[in-house]
Amino acid sequence: CGIVGYVGRAERTQDHGAIDVVLEGLRRLEYRGYDSAGVAVLTDGGVASAKKAGKLANLLGVLDTAPLPESRTGIGHTRWATHGGPTDLNAHPHLADDGKLALIHNGIIENFAELKTELLAKRATFVSETDTEAAAVLLADEYRNAADVEASVRLTVAMQRACQKLEGAFTLLAIHSDLPGVVVAARRNSPLVVGLGEGENFLGSDVSGFIDYTRRAVELGQDQIVTITPDEVVITDFFGKPAAGKEYHVDWDAAAAEKDGYPSFMEKEIHEQPRAVADTLLGRNDSHGKLTLDELRIDESILRSVDKIIVIACGTSAYVGQVAKYAIEHWCRIPTEVELSHEFRYRDPIVNEKTLVVAISQSGETMDTLMAVRHAREQGAKVLAICNTNGSTIPRESDAVLYTHAGPEIAVASTKAFLAQITASYLLGLYLAQLRGNKFQDEIKTILTDLAAMPEKIQAVLDHEQQIKDLAVSMKDVNSVLFLGRHVGFPVAMEGALKLKELAYIHAEGFAAGELKHGPIALIEEGQPVFVVVPSPNGRDSLHAKVVSNIQEVRARGAKTIVIAEAGDEAVRQYAEHVFYVPATSTLLAPLLTTVPLQIFACALASEKGYDVDQPRNLAKSVTVE
Ligand code: G6P
Repeated sequence: CGIVGYVGRAERTQDHGAIDVVLEGLRRLEYRGYDSAGVAVLTDGGVASAKKAGKLANLLGVLDTAPLPESRTGIGHTRWATHGGPTDLNAHPHLADDGKLALIHNGIIENFAELKTELLAKRATFVSETDTEAAAVLLADEYRNAADVEASVRLTVAMQRACQKLEGAFTLLAIHSDLPGVVVAARRNSPLVVGLGEGENFLGSDVSGFIDYTRRAVELGQDQIVTITPDEVVITDFFGKPAAGKEYHVDWDAAAAEKDGYPSFMEKEIHEQPRAVADTLLGRNDSHGKLTLDELRIDESILRSVDKIIVIACGTSAYVGQVAKYAIEHWCRIPTEVELSHEFRYRDPIVNEKTLVVAISQSGETMDTLMAVRHAREQGAKVLAICNTNGSTIPRESDAVLYTHAGPEIAVASTKAFLAQITASYLLGLYLAQLRGNKFQDEIKTILTDLAAMPEKIQAVLDHEQQIKDLAVSMKDVNSVLFLGRHVGFPVAMEGALKLKELAYIHAEGFAAGELKHGPIALIEEGQPVFVVVPSPNGRDSLHAKVVSNIQEVRARGAKTIVIAEAGDEAVRQYAEHVFYVPATSTLLAPLLTTVPLQIFACALASEKGYDVDQPRNLAKSVTVE
């Protein structure tokens, strides 16, 4: 998850050797969250490396006992496991070419299984369970094939050729013992920045990786390769065509650099949502619109015979369950219940071998959910975890796991993990529908196409965030905010309310819009702000008309309505004080878009009040007590 690379001339490395720079960079990148760390340096004629699961301190312990030699060329990595658990062996760097080549990687290599099969046929050997190792072995293979290429650019050419074959999202850094003083790197859909020094150059997944040494940075473009030596930075595309990077001056302090220039981790993570959703979709949908969830590892016959699904989760993750219920029941026709883990556990639920329990947890450590998982398994149910943290307890204790690939989430209030979890539950629902041959097969294809367009649409919502931020600032003194929604808009309304409570300490409640007249409408008085999540006017049934009626009911009683509606829904304007439009999509997928303005609203309002949005009072990121 964190990447650092360094090359320096002899006189530079008298002050700081490659190991010092790389370790300092990794320390600066620790904020990104990780579960293992490793470094590699070039020595006289070879590569020396060390890696260890756990915190950086564990790696430092290894280096204390067995120090690596002084060097002028090095790379370092902190890993957030995606493919393969967080073990010593799966940590990076991965070595290839008989230990002469070392490679580190951020991201997901989508076609690693095919590559691995091809490389195994060429007698390559693999020692880890990672997708990264396939890239390392492929690069070594291309390096061997490039024997006719001039020595100084051989690794660069091999990297270009390897990248042409790689699919997915990746930042790669490689060193080879044939080429002292050279680090070659590549990027596609994953960040990489070059730091320009005097007689030394740097690479980092963000500028924090080298901020102690230089403030001159070059941002790489999409699908570019960069070769750094102490005196030169050469950029090309994946086909060797020269390319230019954009140089800029880093004027942030180190703390701001960690947040990529955003004022908080939460804002940063809100903006990482297009990536989180895209990465969660990566590699799970083949070109024929067929879903493959290879990692599920529950026998297909068992999944076919499931007659009930129970989703268990807490907090924000429980609202994902509500969205999942609407989607899974519609696509799969399997009765689906959603229950808070702590309630499930203690009420003697009806669970048996035909029940599929889906445990949703960002951290994978929430004790309430873990206890519920154990209880469900004791009753004979199969448990499938949807989780963002590879190797954490809940996936380990479950029968199967579908990982979300949101990357580590630092802010206590969940944002990008929420969207990634929703994405994963759609994938699960579509997969089950596909497996069980439901009558919605055509709809599955359409939904998969719609899902693929989501990252761009989420970005479009983010591009208009200022409108919501301005609104939040103007509302900073309100005492209470209500949120209404129907269908999948209902859990979105509850999530909007939860965010506001958590971050801004304001009374907020989410209601099913239809329930309003059965009680909550008594709360409405002059000036009461009410957010309404309005479904698409082109969506199913008469949902849109029903929600518009609900808006009129509250307005008639003095409420000020703020409406989240689908682009083009002009009719809704007349019922709202403010309208925020999101791009059109199929009804069931709308939460991926309608949640985003509510997150921005809560974050902006709390920031305006001067609160710490990353660490709200009384809350913990993962609650490991019952
Ligand atoms: C805590 C956090 C919430 C989170 C909930 C469930 O209460 O403060 O933001 O939604 O735990 O966490 P999980 O890691 O299981 O998704």
